[in-house]
Amino acid sequence: MNYRYPIEAWQITEKDFQLNELRESESVFALANGFIGMRGNLEEQTATGAETIQGSFLNGVFDTEPIVYGEAAYGYAKNHETICNVMDAKSLILEADGERLDMGKSRVTEHQRVLDLRGGILTRRFVWETKSGCTLKVEQKRLVSLTHRNLAATALSLQCLRGSCRLTLESAVRPAVIAEGDPNDPRNAAGKDRRLLCSGAEVQGAMIALQQKTKNSGFTVSCAADHRGSIAFTAEAGKDGVSWIGKAALQSGDSLRLEKSICYTASGKDEADSWEEAMNGCREAPGFDKLAEEQRAYLDAFWERAGIDIEGDDALLQGLRFNLFHLLQSVGRDGRRNIAAKGLTGEGYEGHTFWDTEAYILPVFLYTEPELARKLLEYRYTTLPQARERARVMGHPKGALFPWRTIDGEECSAYFPAGTAQVHIDGDIAHAVWEYWQATGDLAFLSEMGAEILAETARLFADIGFFSEEKNGRFVINCVTGPDEYNVMVNNNVYTNSVAEENLRNAAAAMQILKAECPREYAALCTKIGFSEEEAAFWQKAAEGMYYPPAQDGIVPQDDGFLARKPWPLESIPAEKHPLLMHYHGLTIYRHMVCKQADLILAMILFGDRYTEEEKKKNFAFYDSVTTHDSSLSMAVFSILAAEIGEIRKACDYFLSSARLDLDNIHHNTKDGLHMANMAGTWIGMTRGFGGMRIRDGMLSFAPVCPPEWESFSFCVCFRGRIIRVHADHSGASYELKSGDAITILSCGKPVTLS
Ligand code: BGC
Repeated sequence: MNYRYPIEAWQITEKDFQLNELRESESVFALANGFIGMRGNLEEQTATGAETIQGSFLNGVFDTEPIVYGEAAYGYAKNHETICNVMDAKSLILEADGERLDMGKSRVTEHQRVLDLRGGILTRRFVWETKSGCTLKVEQKRLVSLTHRNLAATALSLQCLRGSCRLTLESAVRPAVIAEGDPNDPRNAAGKDRRLLCSGAEVQGAMIALQQKTKNSGFTVSCAADHRGSIAFTAEAGKDGVSWIGKAALQSGDSLRLEKSICYTASGKDEADSWEEAMNGCREAPGFDKLAEEQRAYLDAFWERAGIDIEGDDALLQGLRFNLFHLLQSVGRDGRRNIAAKGLTGEGYEGHTFWDTEAYILPVFLYTEPELARKLLEYRYTTLPQARERARVMGHPKGALFPWRTIDGEECSAYFPAGTAQVHIDGDIAHAVWEYWQATGDLAFLSEMGAEILAETARLFADIGFFSEEKNGRFVINCVTGPDEYNVMVNNNVYTNSVAEENLRNAAAAMQILKAECPREYAALCTKIGFSEEEAAFWQKAAEGMYYPPAQDGIVPQDDGFLARKPWPLESIPAEKHPLLMHYHGLTIYRHMVCKQADLILAMILFGDRYTEEEKKKNFAFYDSVTTHDSSLSMAVFSILAAEIGEIRKACDYFLSSARLDLDNIHHNTKDGLHMANMAGTWIGMTRGFGGMRIRDGMLSFAPVCPPEWESFSFCVCFRGRIIRVHADHSGASYELKSGDAITILSCGKPVTLS
C-alpha cells in the first residue's frame, strides 16, 4: 500500500512537497473550529506550477441566488444557497532582497508541514536560500482556536543562518476569492461568482480590518488582524484589501518573530454589524502561545473522552484519528450551524448539510461529545418552520419535510429525483432524535424539541403512505428515493419504510412519555401542533402495517422493482467510467440493477433484529456485487455488516479504504474538501462494526471482534452520563467505567455490571 503521508500515531507530516498535489494537501491541512474554517493554503498563497484552491469559510455564512431551471415546475426548490469563501487572513508573503518566496521557483530545502492532532496546530518549516545568498530558516504556525469561536492565529519565527538580506513581510486581509467550482461535476457545481462585496476597510496601528457583505443573503462579515512583533511596519488600505507591511534588515544570527491574531465575526440580516466586535476581539486576543496551550488542553480532554486505539495497524489508527479530529473541527457548536458534507475544508457540495449529519456524524458526537449532538438536533429544531412550509408546498396538510440539502433550512436541491424525493431524511432525523434520547435520557430535550420533531416527521410519512389494497392492505410508501441515489423514485424502499416505521412508533411513544413525565409540556405541545391521541393510534397502525418487499430466494429487494431491473455486472464497466454519475445519463443508471451506495445494507445494520444471520450473509454478498461505492458514504457501512457476519477480511478492506479515504485521496476529489460522512463512518465502523455496539432495549451492548491482523483495539463511549472504555483482543473483551455511576451493559448478550 502506498500511503501519501508517513504513518505516525498523532500527526500528519508532509515531507516531500508536491506541487501537483497542493490542492489535496490544502484540504488535509485545513483547520477549523465549527465556525471559522481555513484551508491549508500556503502562507504565500500561490506557487508557480501549482493549482491552488484558496479557502476561508464561516460556518452558516452563505449567499443565495435563484435557481435557474430550463423547465421549471411547481414546487421546485427556488434558491441556491452557497457557502461563502470569505476574506483571507492567513496569508503572509515573504520577500528577501526583492525575491518573493515561491515554492515553484525558490530554492527551498527541508520543507515540512505537520498537522498535530493533539495540539491542533499546523506547522510549516523550511530553509530558504535566497538568490541574494542569504539562508533563512523559517517556521510558520497556524491555529484556529477550539476555545475561542471567533479567533485564529499565526506565528512566524525566522532565523538568518547565513548572509544578510532586506526582508519584507506582507500580511493582508484580502477580499474573498471567486468561489471555485466545476460546472461539469454535480458534486462541485458551486461558484461562478464573487459573492461578497467590500463594504469597509480600516487600519489602526498594527491592526488591519476588512468588512464585506453578501450580495443577496444579507450577511455582513468582518475580519480583523492584529500584528505583534518588533518590526518596523506600515499598514494601509488598498484596492486589494488591507495590508500590513513589515521590513527588517537581517544579518547572520538575527532572528525575528511575528504573531498575527485574527478575529472573524458575522451577522445576519437583522443583526447589528459585527465590525467593532472583530476589532475588539483581535485587540483582546491572547497571544499565540496562550491559545496553543488552551488548544492542547481542549484536545487532551477530547482525546481522553473519545480516545481510540488499534494495536497492530498504525495506518488505520492514523486514519481514524485524523478523521475524528476533522469532524471535531468542522461541527457547528451553537445550535444554529450544522456540519457541511465537506465540513469547513472546501466548497464541494456548496457547503450543504445533508442526511450525512444524522445518519453518520451525529452518532459520533452522541457517544463522544453528547452536547454537540444535542446542538445538531437543536439546529434541525430551529429549521422546523421551513420544513413545515416545505411540507405544505409538497401537498401535505400536516407535518414537516426537512430539506435534502441546505444551509439554513430551505430546500436547495435542484434535482428532485435525487433530492427532495429522499424523504428518508425525515426518518434519519427522527432516528437520531430517538437515539439521542436513548443514549442520554435528556427529558428536557425530548419535551422541548424532540417530541415535536418526531410528531411532525411521523405526520409526513403518515400522509405520504397509504394502506394499499394491492398489497393486502399493508402500508406502502411510493415514489421515493432511498439513500442509494442510483435507484430513484421507487416504491417501498426498504430503508425508507424502516425509518418511517420506526419514526411512526417512536412519535407515538414520545407523546406517551411526555404525557406521563411532563404533562404540562405535553398539553402545550398538543395545543401547539393540534395533536390528538387518535392521530397516534393511526401512526401505530401504519407502523404495524408497514409493507416490505418480500425476499426472492433470500435476496431482499432494495425496493419493489430492484430485482426486475436490467443486470449490469460491475466487471463489465471499464474503470475509467467510474463514478457512473460522471459518465452515464441518469436514466441509463436508473434502469439497471446497480447501486451507488449502501442502502439495504444500512437497513440491515440499523434494524438488524428483523433479519436472520443467514439473510444478512446472503444479502451482503449480493449487494456487494452490485454496488459501485461511487458515494464515499458506502464503504464504511459495508464494513460494519461484514464485521457482524464474520466476513472479517472484507470488513478490514472496506474499513481501511474508508479510514484513509482522504489521506490517500482514494476518491480523487479530496481537493474539493474532506468527506465528513465517510470520516464519521469509520468511527461507526470501529464501534458498531468491530465493537458490535448497539442499544438493545435501552441497554448498551457490545460484541467485539478483533481482526487477526490487529493485536487489540479500544475505544471510549459516553452513555447516559458514563464514559466506558471498551478494549478487545484475541482473548476477549474487557470494559472499564472511566467515569459515572455503575451501569449494566451487555457483552456478547451477557449482562456485565461496571462499577
Ligand atoms: C451521496 C449522498 C450524500 C451526499 C453528500 C452523495 O454522493 O449519494 O448520500 O448525502 O453525497 O455527502
